[in-house]
Amino acid sequence: MSQTLIRPGSLSVLDRSQKINGTYYIQTWGCQMNEEDSEQIALCLADLGLTQAATPKQAQVVVLNTCSVRKKPEDKAFSFLGELRELKRARPDMVIGVAGCMAQIRADEIRRRNPFVDFVVGTAQVAQIQGLVEDAIQTRKFQKRLELPERKGTVVTDVPQRLLERPGKLKAFVPIQYGCDKFCSFCIVPSTRGRERSRPTAHIIEEVTKLAALGTKEVTLLGQTVNSYGKNLAEGRVPFAQLLRAVAEVPGLERIRYTSPYPRDFKRDLIDTIRDVPEVMEHCHMPLQAGDDGLLARMKRLYTLESYAEIVGHLRDAVPDIGLTTDIIVGFPGETDSEFQGTLAAMERFQFDGAYMFKYSPRPNTPAAELPQVDQKVAENRLAELIKVQTEITLQRNEAQIGKSFEVLVEGPSPKDRGSLQGYSRCFRMLHFCGDEKLQGEKVTVEAVSSHLWGLRAKIV
Ligand code: SAH
Ligand code: F3S
Repeated sequence: MSQTLIRPGSLSVLDRSQKINGTYYIQTWGCQMNEEDSEQIALCLADLGLTQAATPKQAQVVVLNTCSVRKKPEDKAFSFLGELRELKRARPDMVIGVAGCMAQIRADEIRRRNPFVDFVVGTAQVAQIQGLVEDAIQTRKFQKRLELPERKGTVVTDVPQRLLERPGKLKAFVPIQYGCDKFCSFCIVPSTRGRERSRPTAHIIEEVTKLAALGTKEVTLLGQTVNSYGKNLAEGRVPFAQLLRAVAEVPGLERIRYTSPYPRDFKRDLIDTIRDVPEVMEHCHMPLQAGDDGLLARMKRLYTLESYAEIVGHLRDAVPDIGLTTDIIVGFPGETDSEFQGTLAAMERFQFDGAYMFKYSPRPNTPAAELPQVDQKVAENRLAELIKVQTEITLQRNEAQIGKSFEVLVEGPSPKDRGSLQGYSRCFRMLHFCGDEKLQGEKVTVEAVSSHLWGLRAKIV
């Protein structure tokens, strides 16, 4: 294909057979699903001929991939747009697009507050980005593409198109399920990502096979309730455990992770698969959210503390060294001190290896946002207390690993610890160790020599 040569700082496209000569910058907030969407956006833009710029200042096309799960990332996106306003004033032919969860639910407000935005694209329309960028260059007319496929009837056909020709890399995210049907009372995701839709198994296997052929050794399968995968497929029901076993057969693939499983849908066959299939890593990130049944019920989480404990018990019986991590929310509406004490007690009881801990953030049009809120100062103090308790637990659990051996997939030099290599153990502990950079992409066995909050220092054995 021919290249359209353009002045620096400007963009033009003559016809669709021609590539655009210019650069792009993508700013991403939020979860792994967003990171993965950003990678798809980058592939779409690269396919148009654009190359990656180091900063938004140097880019002709800037895409914001936004997050709505809490207020903070939304504020960050609006303030980033404020900076872009100045850039666009200086370079009016810049193209600015907003994607992601906030784009899905606040498109009109984004445009009203930032009239210079060229397009807004929702979570299920990432594949439209190429056309949107081309149209923005040619017509300069604002566009939004927000269609969110409803799941009608019993069979899922409407899952996003994906570009599978990706550059080779050691680890990759692979979405296997879109949307969420759980409607936890605090959560915006069912509105931003729509109904639960599983990707056909054959598509997933095709993608993982391609990735493995390009050198990917580890995939993380993504879904909001990843272990409820496999409903409403044309091929019939495919249990998540069965999918894991099929992915494990892909030649060249060495490690499989997945995030995040929903406690109620954690079935015996999944525990057996973690125990029996060597490619499936012994780590489970299973959001608990709260340690009190009243709170869990008000959150509309469909399990109790005891049913969660039962899963943890089965997991640790089957796989004693399994890494367990979780998500917790404090300051949920009406959270009493004794309920919060329940959450602290649950942390002591379950001894998680790590936890993401959040202060509840009211989300528009979610049931919990309408309830009487906890005083902010109280919520902040509770969060600090929770973090303190969990930090102590993580430190102790890491310390208990000293002297143990771990299989690590070497990712390369550590950005934080110059002169060291880094990688994760099967149970998702971060390890730093000295070694030859040529080991990148290899599995090595290391022995832990010292422990830290972030993980372990080790030596190759
Ligand atoms: N189903 C997804 C959850 C997506 S949101 C998963 O299990 O990975 C990721 C985490 O953000 C949730 O587990 C929850 O702990 C937190 N979260 C979601 N909504 C929130 C809110 N309104 N305020 C604070 N934290 C929230
Ligand atoms: Fe959100 Fe609950 Fe689904 S946390 S993504 S509604 S499982």
